[in-house]
Amino acid sequence: MCGIVGVIGNSRAKDILLNGLDKLEYRGYDSAGIFLENGQETFLVKSQGRIQQLKDKLSDDVKGSIGIGHTRWATHGVPSEANAHPHTSQSGRFVLVHNGVIENFDELKHTYVQADQFKGETDTEIVVHLVEHFAQTENLSALKAFKKTLSVVKGSYAFGLIDTENPDAIYVAKNKSPLLIGLGDGFNVICSDAMAMLKETNRFVEINDGEIVVVHADGISIEDKAGNAVERQPFVTELDASDAEKGAYPFYMMKEIDEQPAVLRRLTQEYANLDGSFSFDAELLAELQASDRIYIVACGTSYNAGWASKNALEAMMNIPVEVHLSSELGYHMPLLSSKPFFIFLTQSGETADSRQVLVKVNELGYPSLTITNVAGSTLSREAKYTVLLHAGPEIAVASTKAYTAQITVLNLLAKAYGNQNGVKAAKEFDVVHELGLTATAMEAVITEKETIESSVKSILASTRNAFYIGRGEDYYVAMEAALKLKEISYIQAEGFAAGELKHGTIALIEKGTPVFGLINDEVTGPHTRGNLKEVESRGAETFVISSESLAKVGDQLILADVHPYCRALLAVVPTQLIAYYASLHRGYDVDKPRNLAKAVTVE
Ligand code: F6R
Repeated sequence: MCGIVGVIGNSRAKDILLNGLDKLEYRGYDSAGIFLENGQETFLVKSQGRIQQLKDKLSDDVKGSIGIGHTRWATHGVPSEANAHPHTSQSGRFVLVHNGVIENFDELKHTYVQADQFKGETDTEIVVHLVEHFAQTENLSALKAFKKTLSVVKGSYAFGLIDTENPDAIYVAKNKSPLLIGLGDGFNVICSDAMAMLKETNRFVEINDGEIVVVHADGISIEDKAGNAVERQPFVTELDASDAEKGAYPFYMMKEIDEQPAVLRRLTQEYANLDGSFSFDAELLAELQASDRIYIVACGTSYNAGWASKNALEAMMNIPVEVHLSSELGYHMPLLSSKPFFIFLTQSGETADSRQVLVKVNELGYPSLTITNVAGSTLSREAKYTVLLHAGPEIAVASTKAYTAQITVLNLLAKAYGNQNGVKAAKEFDVVHELGLTATAMEAVITEKETIESSVKSILASTRNAFYIGRGEDYYVAMEAALKLKEISYIQAEGFAAGELKHGTIALIEKGTPVFGLINDEVTGPHTRGNLKEVESRGAETFVISSESLAKVGDQLILADVHPYCRALLAVVPTQLIAYYASLHRGYDVDKPRNLAKAVTVE
């Protein structure tokens, strides 16, 4: 959802900005721009399209030691050069990048600034005009004009602002959108995500909502909302720059699919101790014990991971679990149980829809846990507890390893809780052993990727739509499988409860419609087979993914038998590969599907 970068005090500013934007491209990739200042001249270069298109426009003359940059995911205004950031004020004195949404931009436009000053249609541009407006009409310094602007702006934002009359600082502020300051040796940087600046530093300073930071080459000063100076120590990130490289892989998504067995093993080591104990916060387990219902809140793939974990959680914790979409729950809170416990599943930790629910949960005073891949992310900071996914950076927009990491962490947490509370199902579940078997079974699927590729080529080459069907956990995996397929291959795909198909949706089945059947549950498997026969009779081309003990001659892909709590972890892997190859063979950019962005920071 837009990425911003900035640097001050470094003659390599152009390369630092471009490298940072490359690393942030997953946040949006419909236009990009940079601003640079070299003491004599200023340069503003913007381009529609990817960062590469911006790079192609940059000549060697463009250089400087202070600059800001932006990669955009359009919210207000089409992707175009005029709407790309950085935006400049009327006189050109102020230059600004923004991530977020200014909710009252229309009202501000009409109140303060003449209509003919606007070059584009974004919600951002008003902000830079306002800074200039207050600087001119009230004779304010850049910092004071920026503060005054912030006092009238409503919405979410991370801003980087440069005053070209005094280019010795980058003015920074945030509210709800992520932003970090990176501390370099003789220079400093700003970024939406630490990964963008790992080449330059591993020391970062967090900024809280409402704070304003003035970033100089040799230091930073932070002020809180009330204008008090704030001292904050930097933290050293554990992220490794090489984790964010794709190496010999053509796309990050394939690298991330391949990493899943290792993520399962890493999580086992992280949370399950050799003596049979678990390293989850004792207070967290106690608060779970005191609760009478768990509400999982999430969006997209994380929501699907919530469903895929529900049955194992209920079995091992003996607490009812509800799974909710953040974008619905925030506005229609159901009648809650008397002691609810909220679990936020969010790989990015920044999803605005989930965050707005967390804000309400905090207001209501209920306990919360964020399970996220990003330490220090907004939802991690604002929830009472955090458990990390340790999946390493996930760069492909379509989530794979974060989904399996979420289910794995929930399995480990449920096991730890159930063990401690004497729940039979948990005591009987040898989580370390079973996750180990699952990791090995995942590897076996991954080694069969070429078989999957050749099937997909024929089945999905030109189809308009496709179905995944299953029951129980297989249905939950079907939901995720369909989401993956549609988001990167643009095939209209639906994940359906197999038994429900005949109640209406079967009308969509026609000759050649691809239907993938998931059969990994001994109780429901035979029924799903029956449903596959029904669609075959109506012309569907079926593809069956079944586990060994339920397999029948003619099934296209056989998976190892794994523990029921681990079935979703394994069954999702072939579906990720199916989506990957469908996208590849249809000629799309697998990692950067159209219209999407990795961290969705608008509601
Ligand atoms: C799809 C995908 C999205 C995210 C969703 C929530 O592959 O990744 O559906 O799962 O946008 O994001 P997080 O998990 O960061 O809250």
